[in-house]
Amino acid sequence: MNEAQQQQQRQAAKRAAANAAANLIRSGMTVGLGTGSTATAFVEALGARVAAGELTVRGVPTSQASETLARRLGIETVPLGWESRPDITVDGADEIGPGLNLIKGGGGALVREKLVAAASRELIVIADASKEVPRLGAFPLPMAVFPFGWETACRQLTERFAVPASLRRQREPDGEPVITDDGLYLIDMSFGIIDDPERLQAQLREIVGVAEVGLFVGLATRAIVGQDDGRVVFSGSRRGTGSLLMP
Ligand code: 5RP
Repeated sequence: MNEAQQQQQRQAAKRAAANAAANLIRSGMTVGLGTGSTATAFVEALGARVAAGELTVRGVPTSQASETLARRLGIETVPLGWESRPDITVDGADEIGPGLNLIKGGGGALVREKLVAAASRELIVIADASKEVPRLGAFPLPMAVFPFGWETACRQLTERFAVPASLRRQREPDGEPVITDDGLYLIDMSFGIIDDPERLQAQLREIVGVAEVGLFVGLATRAIVGQDDGRVVFSGSRRGTGSLLMP
């Protein structure tokens, strides 16, 4: 199979997971809308159900991009607030590790994604099978940092953890820094293997200047993973549901 065919298969797997997640949404729900290509497929599937008159929902977007998309598709959007805590949030991930701990932030939206996920009654992570890993850490861990003094934060991160840390730029090696929807910079750290995500998250948060870490520990309740053969596999932890294969 060539590269283009692999991409096509991956896209179909993402769509299958996204459609399965959209079918779990019930009328009247407040739904957290993730960011990225898999979350986009979910918002499109949800929008199709809304347009068909099957559902009335409110969406809580995790980025300006998701908000624009949702509105274009006719999904009412509301900002995250106490009265608009999502019943379910559906979002993608860069890695899904043991216990449904995640690395997120490849698309730079980790701060809002984490705020919305943490406020939600349930976080369903959707992905193609390439995102499932036996241990987190091969994907560079994204972190949002304050622009002021970012170099000192970056230096402290490198020295404390002895792994490469780099500022995400619009163009490597010397383009302008990527700026998040919240006006933050992003630093990516190549850990290779993360054995204890909870401990690492706590250690990273001790560095002054780090606004949020792209480790999602204990937040996801279910995963829906699209397979190469078109099936989706449901798995759950904590409040989740065990494992179920869907044709
Ligand atoms: C954005 C994210 C995305 O969910 C993550 O990067 C996965 O994206 P995709 O579905 O395009 O592979 O965390 O900040």
